[in-house]
Formats: sequence, structure tokens, C-alpha cells
Amino acid sequence: MSLEEKFEKLKKLREQARLGGGQKRIEQQHERGKLSARERLEFLLDDGSFQELDAFVTHRSDDPDMASQKYLGDSVVTGFGKIDGRLVYVFSQDFTVFGGSLSEVHAEKICKVMDLAMKNGAPVIGLNDSGGARIQEGVVSLAGYTDIFLRNVMASGVVPQFSAIMGPCAGGAVYSPALTDFILMVKETSHMFLTGPNVIKAVTHEDVSFEELGGAMTHNSLSGVAHFAAENEEECLYLLRRLLSFVPQNNLEDAPIIPCTDDPGRMDEELNYIVPDNPNKPYDMRDIIRRVVDNGDFLEVHEHFAQNIVVGFARLNGRSVGIVAQQPNVLAGVLDILSSTKGARFVRFCDCFNIPLITFTDVPGFLPGVAQEHGGVIRNGAKLLYAYCEATVPKLTVITRKAYGGAYCVMSSKHVRGDINYAWPTAEIAVMGPEGAVNVIFKKEIDEAADPEAARQQLIEEYREKFANPYVAAARGYIDDVIMPAETRPKLIIALEMLKNKRDTNPPKKHGNIPL
Ligand code: HXC
Repeated sequence: MSLEEKFEKLKKLREQARLGGGQKRIEQQHERGKLSARERLEFLLDDGSFQELDAFVTHRSDDPDMASQKYLGDSVVTGFGKIDGRLVYVFSQDFTVFGGSLSEVHAEKICKVMDLAMKNGAPVIGLNDSGGARIQEGVVSLAGYTDIFLRNVMASGVVPQFSAIMGPCAGGAVYSPALTDFILMVKETSHMFLTGPNVIKAVTHEDVSFEELGGAMTHNSLSGVAHFAAENEEECLYLLRRLLSFVPQNNLEDAPIIPCTDDPGRMDEELNYIVPDNPNKPYDMRDIIRRVVDNGDFLEVHEHFAQNIVVGFARLNGRSVGIVAQQPNVLAGVLDILSSTKGARFVRFCDCFNIPLITFTDVPGFLPGVAQEHGGVIRNGAKLLYAYCEATVPKLTVITRKAYGGAYCVMSSKHVRGDINYAWPTAEIAVMGPEGAVNVIFKKEIDEAADPEAARQQLIEEYREKFANPYVAAARGYIDDVIMPAETRPKLIIALEMLKNKRDTNPPKKHGNIPL
């Protein structure tokens, strides 16, 4: 073969690999509103940055039917590239080849990029679109999945891992995304479930559609499995890029600092009037968050799930921060089973990856009720408490209104190693709310009063004056300062700057035992 012929052969093979399962199948993807595996990577990564690995790999199945069907690269495209100039490792399952099903070599290709990511300290992004285990390869495929699961766990807390679900993701295959840090789904075209509608029909006689069972909104609002729901694939890939901008490359680095165009000394008088005079009136905590952070830019995570707590990423003077806040607009911002687990997971992600935590507290307490107690609010509430206690990143707290009972302790209080704890003058910090408290401690006085209701109201007022304010806690140093709401942004930015070299550790141990 001449030199020219050799070059020509490579060109042809590359073209063959580029087509995956063929032009016809790529068109079928398009007809379903889906991009091909390579188109997704082109959209996700900086122009021309993708470097493919293992494009010449083919499956090793000895099944006679399979021997004649070999596709270069098999059913996944893998490699590395850049997002906003930063290195990332990627794999993109190719549905046009055996439905993107996972063969032995498919798994090996994914493991190779994951190993590189761990060695070189860069995020891993998986674009999932697969019919699951390659049926023809049997247990070898299961072994391949497990090799990936193991790496997901080893990489957890070392490099950030992201999973975009862009087609089917079924059976045990769901556990790789489930082990990663964030799951993004596309409405209508992506589905995740352990057992599909047909099996469910046969076993439990329940009738359920794919979308209802495992669609994007089901997992974003009901199960909490997914963190983002995108309208289409392009939005999903854009969200991935945006999400990545808030996180560092690995656990030894800090998130990139973006030059800040918002005045770090900016005061906001409107903040003084967001919390209503009436302590029982709700307001939208996201209004406060947006007014405080750089350019009002807040990327909410888990937006549709357990909405009584709000979590997400923002920046303060260009520095990435994780925000955890109650939402008085939903269930008065109580802590319950779901909001505790949602908050805990986010706190732990931020702590893994050196992202300071900013907590805005307005919490009437934990939600009372038989369903909560029997559902394990003790065990689940303990997750959030545990997460805040073990977190060693800078922790800043602003109590905007209520901080009652155990929920006061949990929400990044001084006692769980909060570094700087501020309260607004509207803060009410006490063991329990005035209504509940007077009923317990003044029961006899109220019962014996000529007008019990008037006496009760009077006692509530006195209690509120005496206990439900920030000054009792501030007198003990549990609150570092009572600040005007308007000055929250500059105060947080100055505190964050002061804490930028913070070093704190936990005792050496194999690992803690977070209540699961
Ligand atoms: C081999 C597969 C395949 C698989 C799909 N294909 N899934 N080949 N192994 N798991 C092939 C099909 O034969 C077909 O080939 C092509 O991919 C496209 O599939 P279609 O069925 O035509 O596509 P569609 O109608 O869109 O349906 C997609 C699907 C369906 C819903 C994913 O294919 C399906 O139900 N597949 C099986 C899903 C499944 O049960 N997987 C195992 C789950 S258990 P041709 O040549 O006709 O184009 C599992 C265990 C993991 O994954 C455990 C880890 C611990």
C-alpha cells in the first residue's frame, strides 16, 4: 500500500466511524427530536476541541449474528475536550449502534476516560442514550456496568461527574447516573426507570406511560432523581456548560473566579422591605437571593423538587458559592423529609468541591405530623444536620426571619461551625414560635384569665418582644452581627474574602456514617 493509500484508508475509516450506525439511523434520531452522539458533543464542547479516543474499537461478541455487524467505535463516542477553555472528559452513547447498548468494549471505553479524568483531575460528562446492557453479551455487559459503577464511586468527591439523559436509560444502567453529582433530563425524549411500563403492568397491573413513569418532570418534581429538566437537547447541553462554570476541576482546586461586573459594595434598599411585617406572611426567598448575588444570576438546582428549600449556584464578587435557603412561599419554608435530603446532598457537593456555602434562614421548624414521623423525618432531618456539621468550606449564614428550634441548629448555625452568622433585625431566634411557646409555658395563666384569648395574645406579644428577636443570640455571640438587609451583599462579600484561606478539618477516619 502506498503512503497515499494509507492516508486515504485512515480518512475512509474516520468517515465510517463518524457515521456510527449509518446515515439512516442518524436521520431516525433527528425525526425523534434527538441529536446524534457526535452532534451532541459538538454542541457541548468548545469549537474544534473534541479529541476522540478509541474510534477503531469494535465489539468482541462471539454471537454469530453479531460477527457480521461491527461498527467502528461500537456504541459510544469517547474522548476529551474543552468547555470555556477548561478540560473535560466525555462519553456520548450512540443510539444508532445497537440502540446505544452497553457492550464489553463500550464499558472499557467509558472506563478509560474515567481513569484519565481521575488521574488528571477534570470533570466527567456522560451523555446517556442507551437500551441498557447489550443483550447478546450477557454477563460480560453486566461486568462492564459494574466496572463503571465502581469508578463512579471512586471518582465521587474527587472530580465532578455529570449525567445528561438524552434517550432511554433503563434497568440497572440507571445506577451510573444515580452515582454522579448531577442528572439533567430532556422533556419527552428521555426516560429513566428500573423496570419499564410493560413489566410494571405484568407485575403490579398498573398502567403507566413512559413519560409518567420516568420522564423528566417525574424525576425532577416527584422522585428527586434528576436535578434539571430541559425543554430540548440544546437547552440541556447549554445547562451543562453553565453548571460547569460554577464548579472546580477537582477537589484540590477552587471554582474559577469570573471577573465581576456587579459592584461588590452595592447596597439594595429594597431588601429592607422584602420580609413582610406580619411574621405569618410569605415572600419569595429567591427575590432576596437574586438581589444579593452578582448580576442577579442564580442557577437553581432541583428547582421542581421539595420547593420549601431552595438550593443552587451563584457568585459573590466573581467567586462561586452554593446557596441553601428556605422558601417561605412553600409550606412556610419548613424542614421536612424531602427538603432535608435535598439540602444535605447539595451541601455535601459544595463541601466536596470547595464551594463556600451561603445559607439564608427563615424556618419555622421541622414539619409536625404522623406521616413525617413515620416516614423518618428524624433519620432524614439528620442528613442535613450531618452535612452542615461535617462541611469545612466557608459557611456564611443570614437569618432573615424565623430560626426556630432544631431547625435553627441545623441551618448553618454557629454551633455547627458557621463561620460568620448574620441576622436581619426582623430575625426571630428561639426554641419555638411565640404561639406554641405561650401555650406550653403559660397554660395555667391563660386558663385562669378572665379573657383567656386576650391574655394569650398579650403573652404572645411579650414573648415575641423578649425572645423572638436576634439580640438574645447576638448577646451570646451566636450571631456575629445584626445587619440591615440592604447591606447584605457587601457584608457577605467582605466575609467571604476574609475566609478565602480558611482551613478546617475533621478528625481522621475511614469515613463517617451519615444516616442514610
Ligand atoms: C442489544 C439492543 C438493545 C439491547 C436496543 N437494541 N436495546 N440491542 N441490546 N439492550 C437494538 C434493537 O434491537 C434495535 O436494533 C436498535 O437497538 C434500536 O432499538 P429499537 O427497539 O428499535 O428502538 P426503540 O423502539 O426506540 O426502543 C428503544 C428501547 C428498546 C426502549 C430502548 O430497544 C428496548 O426496550 N430495549 C431493551 C431494553 C432493555 O430491557 N435493556 C436491558 C435492561 S437491563 P435494530 O438492528 O433493529 O436497529 C439492563 C441491566 C443493566 O440494562 C444492569 C447493570 C447492573
